[in-house]
Amino acid sequence: MADPGGISPRHGESGRDEPVPGESRPISEVTTPRRVEMDRALDQSLRPTKLDEFIGKKSVKDSLAVFIEAAQGRGEHLDHTLFYGPPGLGKTTLAMLLAREMGVGIKLTSGPVLEKPGDLAGALTALAPRDILVIDEIHRLRPQIEEFLYPAMEDWRIDVRIGDGVGSDTVSVKLEPFTLVGATTRFGLLTSPMRARFGIVERLGFYPPEELAMIVHQSARRLGVPVSEGGAAEIAGRSRGTPRIANRLLRRVRDFAQVRGEGSVDRETARRGLAMLSVDERGLDEMDARLLRTIIVDFGGGPVGLRSLAVAVGEDTGTLEEVYEPYLIQQGFMQRTSRGRVATPRSEDFVRERFGISLPERGRGDPQGPQAEFGFDKSGK
Ligand SMILES: Nc1ncnc2c1ncn2[C@@H]1O[C@H](COP(=O)(O)OP(=O)(O)OP(=O)(O)O)[C@@H](O)[C@H]1O
Ligand SMILES: [Mg+2]
Repeated sequence: MADPGGISPRHGESGRDEPVPGESRPISEVTTPRRVEMDRALDQSLRPTKLDEFIGKKSVKDSLAVFIEAAQGRGEHLDHTLFYGPPGLGKTTLAMLLAREMGVGIKLTSGPVLEKPGDLAGALTALAPRDILVIDEIHRLRPQIEEFLYPAMEDWRIDVRIGDGVGSDTVSVKLEPFTLVGATTRFGLLTSPMRARFGIVERLGFYPPEELAMIVHQSARRLGVPVSEGGAAEIAGRSRGTPRIANRLLRRVRDFAQVRGEGSVDRETARRGLAMLSVDERGLDEMDARLLRTIIVDFGGGPVGLRSLAVAVGEDTGTLEEVYEPYLIQQGFMQRTSRGRVATPRSEDFVRERFGISLPERGRGDPQGPQAEFGFDKSGK
């Protein structure tokens, strides 16, 4: 498709390729679920191109299939759709699959690259009937752009200002009915008028290890690397519930296997390769360890406010909330309470073991399970 309105494909995929002000982050390039430079090609080459290849999330896929069939039956566009959930779980992939299943064109852009309505106007007017426009990081749209988008989403028209100052005028431009697909890692930061304009809202949660193992097998076939059941399980278990990390670890382990002349990836090779990358058995990295240690040792197990915690570990609050906390909470290593972040018995055991320090035994009530918000999706969703 042509590239109207200064929205270039380079910016399209995630908008995260450029450093974001205020988001300097000394995080591990191996275990972060965010897309890093080395994922660019990998994400693309391993991205499922058919709905069958999209592993897991059965209930999301089932309900999308119904919406797609209904829209096609009516010969209409699909309702505006919002995907939300932590990075690397398949939001962009699903948006692309929607376009494919609907047999329509797709255009990708992202919240932070849209600076003025004009940046979006070109893209909107270039859409053919039923096409899909994806706005990644939609929670980062400027208010002015949001306002501009509302009539486009509701009435298929935009109001364009012509000229400047006294002589300026506003003309209404008609659009073809299209589908806006919004993707966000921060559902809570979306404004409520924006949320209300999506007819379909789907949450993507972490993947259980069995599904990650299936993803590892599928990716391994594509990369032409033989991987045993044990090798896949080993990689899956350390992938933080995240397909993007599973693919990245697979690639690193493959490189390790090649250099060692082993070629194929069995459990032992995977274990040794991952140990060399300092990925621990639960997929936790240095920052996770530092976070848990800080809550426990410096703040007596909590509760500690997000800001204090961020300052103490030298990370920004957004990254803690988006990248680190969801998985730690899901795994029962910490909890979010109204008074702040709290450590759990599980994290105390972890810190004891990891740092070889002794901690006083605190009261052990019920073992803290994962909080519902971050649990694995039920029934394979
Ligand atoms: N269900 C899945 N089955 C197979 N592979 C998957 C699945 N979900 C994600 N992947 C793989 O993970 C990669 C990252 O997924 P994707 O780019 O869709 O994540 P995202 O949710 O859009 O992340 P971000 O929030 O960083 O934009 C894909 O390129 C694909 O290879
Ligand atoms: Mg994405």
